Amino acid sequence: MVSNASFDGELIGALRTARFLAALTGAGISAESGLATFRDAQTGLWARYDPHELATPAAFARNPQRVWDWYAWRRQLATAAVPNAGHVALVALEQRVPEFALVTQNVDGLHQRAGSRNVVELHGNIGRVKCSREGTPVTQWETTVGSVPRCAQCGALLRPDVVWFDERLPEEALAAAEDAVRRCRVLLVVGTSAEVYPAAALPDLARRSGALVVEINPSATALSATADRVLRGAAGTVLPALLAQLD
Ligand code: OAD
Repeated sequence: MVSNASFDGELIGALRTARFLAALTGAGISAESGLATFRDAQTGLWARYDPHELATPAAFARNPQRVWDWYAWRRQLATAAVPNAGHVALVALEQRVPEFALVTQNVDGLHQRAGSRNVVELHGNIGRVKCSREGTPVTQWETTVGSVPRCAQCGALLRPDVVWFDERLPEEALAAAEDAVRRCRVLLVVGTSAEVYPAAALPDLARRSGALVVEINPSATALSATADRVLRGAAGTVLPALLAQLD
């Protein structure tokens, strides 16, 4: 739990007066919406599934059906999930400042569904599909049990429009994220283990550029030792409490 005492004056003052705020989010912010994180010991997806079998181009080449089905299952869970108090607090924060950037590693689309406007998706979006050969976005596809749909243009298999291990991040998104963390006064780093690069390098870039880096997470992470502030607690509790202090 977080208490108001954890919010020191410098942090509150910076949040109140900043012209540009940014947030970097990870799977933890969607945990209270019922979506599993990746690396939490008992409940994380990577505790139950092997990323090498599901989240690499090689895995898709070996067994496209298994990969397609796993993402279809996660797409259903994401569609059924509802944004939580943490997502909603970040919408309110965006509305308070002249400029706000929400950089997310999440593919679930919950930030946009909550109402966040300037969202930078570093790892794609599970709601979208693209051609596995040409990368062309595909908006409609037919789902037949037991087969992976194909691109109507070139016949190649369709795949989720997410970033897999061994793949590059979308260049524009990474550039927008780097620009945001360089220019922001405060970077809130919410619900990420800060272990997956290049996203994990963003807090350090923010700090070197003069931002106050604030971790919001119930557990210690790779970032905890170097963050300027650590607010221990769930995003759905800490973020609304922080917001309440700004009024
Ligand atoms: P992780 O699963 O690595 O980390 C989730 C973090 O959320 C952990 O530090 C938890 O302590 C924290 N957490 C859990 N519940 C929380 C809550 N209620 N409020 C706040 N924090 C909470 O997820 P990511 O850091 O997002 O990439 O993982 C980064 C990338 O690795 C993902 O985008 C995904 C994954 O492999 C790909 O699939 C390419």
